[in-house]
Amino acid sequence: MFTAHNILLPNGRKTIPDSDALISESGQMKSVSRFINLLYRGDYYGKSIVDLGCLEGGYTVEFAKMGMISTGIEVRSSNIYNCKIVESEFSLGNLRFIQDDAWNLERYGVYDVVYCSGLLYHLDRPLSFLKMISRCARDAVIIHTHFAPNFDSEVFRLSSLVESEGLSGRWYLEHDIDDVEELDRFRWTSWSNKKSFWLERKSILQAINDVGFNIVMEQFDWLEPNVVSAMSEGGYYESHSRGLFVGVKR
Ligand SMILES: C[S@@+](CC[C@H](N)C(=O)[O-])C[C@H]1O[C@@H](n2cnc3c(N)ncnc32)[C@H](O)[C@@H]1O
Repeated sequence: MFTAHNILLPNGRKTIPDSDALISESGQMKSVSRFINLLYRGDYYGKSIVDLGCLEGGYTVEFAKMGMISTGIEVRSSNIYNCKIVESEFSLGNLRFIQDDAWNLERYGVYDVVYCSGLLYHLDRPLSFLKMISRCARDAVIIHTHFAPNFDSEVFRLSSLVESEGLSGRWYLEHDIDDVEELDRFRWTSWSNKKSFWLERKSILQAINDVGFNIVMEQFDWLEPNVVSAMSEGGYYESHSRGLFVGVKR
């Protein structure tokens, strides 16, 4: 069973049949592909991308369809099982999935672009992780993540504002599970760390810069068509403190 990535397969079936919301049509996917298009002026020949914590491979396969050499890394067997279904259904020569902890990224070489969606806020040492990403990214990093709000969140149970790795943020309790089989069933959570450190928005921007990306931006068009409502009180961006951050090496 696919839990989140609704992928239109070449045989016309969807991985989540009851839903019409395809990942290829999502605001996030459109926004990310616009950025990559801008970066390479639409010429993706020979360009590689790695999708960290790729879940069911929905974004990974979209990058491959764009023509990039696309690798998804996912730690959970349950999720990799679905990625392998996607891999075999599409049978694209430029798409592969690896089951491993994303902290082992350096084992798999250097990529032109590193895509890190829904993972940074599941880690306990985000700055160290970003440093590793920078060592593996030739051109750019794209990060879609929650950030620690500067007010007490009504949506997430977070600690007060503290510092970790020299950056401000809040701790988030993930789970208290040691058994790997049980952990595998919680498809969307952290893996080995039981609590995660959510960086503040300004700390994310600082960290991207500090680790070696000299162009640092936040992209907002994934919130279209109504950016104002998303960023106003009660809107998704404001209530869920989630953004799309980009770093480029130039
Ligand atoms: C919230 S989901 C996000 C999935 C997907 N990237 C997206 O944006 O839709 C977090 C994903 O990261 C994976 N994950 C968590 N910790 C990981 C780690 N240390 N290494 C690799 N994958 C991890 C989870 O299994 C899950 O698939």
